[in-house]
Amino acid sequence: MEMEKNKVTWETKQSIPLLKPYKMGNFNLSHRIVLAPLTRQRSYGNVPQPHAVLYYSQRATPGGFLITEATGVSDTAQGYENTPGIWTKEQVEAWKPIVDAVHAKGGIFFCQIWHVGRVSNRGFQPNGEAPISCTDKPLKPTKALFSPPRRLSTEEIPGVVNDFRLAARNAMEAGFDGVELHGAHGYMIDQFLKDSVNDRIDQYGGSLQNRCRFALEVVVAVAKEIGKDRVGVRLSPFADLMESGDSNPEALGLYMAESLRKCGVLYCHVIEPRLKRGGEIKECPHETLAPMRKAFQETFIVAGGYTREDGNEAVAKGQTDLVAFGRWFLANPDLPKRFQVNAPLNKYDRPTFYTSDPVVGYTDYPFLEPTVS
Ligand SMILES: Cc1cc2nc3c(=O)[nH]c(=O)nc-3n(C[C@H](O)[C@H](O)[C@H](O)COP(=O)(O)O)c2cc1C
Repeated sequence: MEMEKNKVTWETKQSIPLLKPYKMGNFNLSHRIVLAPLTRQRSYGNVPQPHAVLYYSQRATPGGFLITEATGVSDTAQGYENTPGIWTKEQVEAWKPIVDAVHAKGGIFFCQIWHVGRVSNRGFQPNGEAPISCTDKPLKPTKALFSPPRRLSTEEIPGVVNDFRLAARNAMEAGFDGVELHGAHGYMIDQFLKDSVNDRIDQYGGSLQNRCRFALEVVVAVAKEIGKDRVGVRLSPFADLMESGDSNPEALGLYMAESLRKCGVLYCHVIEPRLKRGGEIKECPHETLAPMRKAFQETFIVAGGYTREDGNEAVAKGQTDLVAFGRWFLANPDLPKRFQVNAPLNKYDRPTFYTSDPVVGYTDYPFLEPTVS
């Protein structure tokens, strides 16, 4: 009877593409359902808190791949309340029990490191200074308050590259298995990449190669510090969040994918512009990313509006190796299990995405009831 049950479980796993094992570099993943990086704003004073131990370990599975929320590389990197950092000893120490808890459940855990660049205001900056960016073009005022950025001088840029390198070293010290560079969504790296933001006239602006220089210098510095097999990069060439559109996202995506392959990084993680806006799904056909996947050749991760069905389809068709789930994983700590048994999903509660409560909307999403056998 027991053997029969095991057989069923095994067969179910084999027939669900998202549940097929995958070897990502030196990491043996038991399935392809990745926890997408999710800012939760519960790291008071930029220090990860004990409640994150439960949050991340709830979402860990043996051989499952998890990526942390965006984590600041320096004291100029923040633009939101209570987001974690990894530039001080205190922050590194605070990450350790969180990483240990994920490892205790057999998870593989990368730290997403970022600098927000101009998506900030003086209130988040040391001594109330202006946020730094590749440009001095301000963001249009919205609900959030942005201060006009200060354009980095050419000579200052290696210092920011170095902050990413040190943050990556700190992530290793905290016990993480690797880092993901946040090169998406209109933050610092993306600000350099996109021609609607980057208006520099030095070697970091102008041509496509020049606009990608900063990103690739960060990749090389971090890869040299911790090993290229521990570095992933997240990109959103097709997105225009935070006024960061590009006039030729296909060329940008392709050049970055080719360059990342040459650098030999572990994975390329790309966000498709399929987020629901105002009730409408803004779709881009999956084929949009095909040239990037082909050019990169190694582990490819996609994200953006995926469900169990189209995630399975994307893996089955070879469009991607892994699929990162954001909102569904946020609301369903046992998402891989639910996908395996095709269980209904908890709905996500948008109003508590970014609130600072250590429990509500964070660690209180229910698990499936254990099945009686
Ligand atoms: C609450 C929330 C926080 C997010 N924080 C981050 C982040 O820190 N870094 C990042 O790269 N993307 C972030 N994203 C984007 C997600 O990683 C993901 O790409 C997006 O939600 C689309 O995937 P989904 O449709 O599966 O949710 C965030 C999204 C949400 C909803």
